[in-house]
Amino acid sequence: MKKLNIAIDGPAGAGKSTIAKALAKKLNMIYVDTGAMYRAIGLHCSRKQIAGDDAQAVEAECDNIHVSIVYENGEQVVCLNGENVNEQIRTAQAGSMASAVSVHKKVRAKMVELQKKLAADTSVVMDGRDIGTVVLPNAEVKIYLTASSAVRAKRRYDELTAKGQDCDLETLKKEIEERDYRDMNREISPLKKAEDAIELDTSELSIEEVVETMMKIVAEKAEK
Ligand code: DC
Repeated sequence: MKKLNIAIDGPAGAGKSTIAKALAKKLNMIYVDTGAMYRAIGLHCSRKQIAGDDAQAVEAECDNIHVSIVYENGEQVVCLNGENVNEQIRTAQAGSMASAVSVHKKVRAKMVELQKKLAADTSVVMDGRDIGTVVLPNAEVKIYLTASSAVRAKRRYDELTAKGQDCDLETLKKEIEERDYRDMNREISPLKKAEDAIELDTSELSIEEVVETMMKIVAEKAEK
């Protein structure tokens, strides 16, 4: 297959990572989870006791943060200054911290550069908030995944409780809505559907149904 980039954007819990991973596996492509990179920056700032909304402090710390991506057994591993932080970044708190630090200009510039590099020579399925609009504006396939906030909160709840993490459904729904608001209303690269993206509401669909629909979209685009 010729080089093909697939950009998947949407709010938290719309199913982006599950779908993107499945799609990448089926198409034998690399999956790049960009949210994990912002989560790593958020984790670093939390450890340094820097408030996520302190633009000056976060930007000053940027030069001390090295985020890199390696692949182990086909799985993305995010390294923060050489340390594998895949587990530590998977909490609701890390998600909110990622959303807070990701509004800052220097953080975005650094991550977008890394993401563009990752997709330069390889076919990737990349998910995030600004992939179709900013990171890969020329991606052959652009999908905007959505679902109601109630469905998205329930998915996060099931995911976190399955991992043994203590959480409350109503609190998760509130966190998700706050995160959406910040991601959609920030000044730089806010979450929005690219004009040429196909919107897919996953509220009533199974993972298999979404993957199947997306495989059809990819096949149609690949033919052109
Ligand atoms: O996809 P996620 O939940 O892991 O993302 C965590 C946060 O990172 C999200 O709330 C906003 C930010 N983010 C971003 O600003 N741009 C991206 N491309 C991906 C994530």
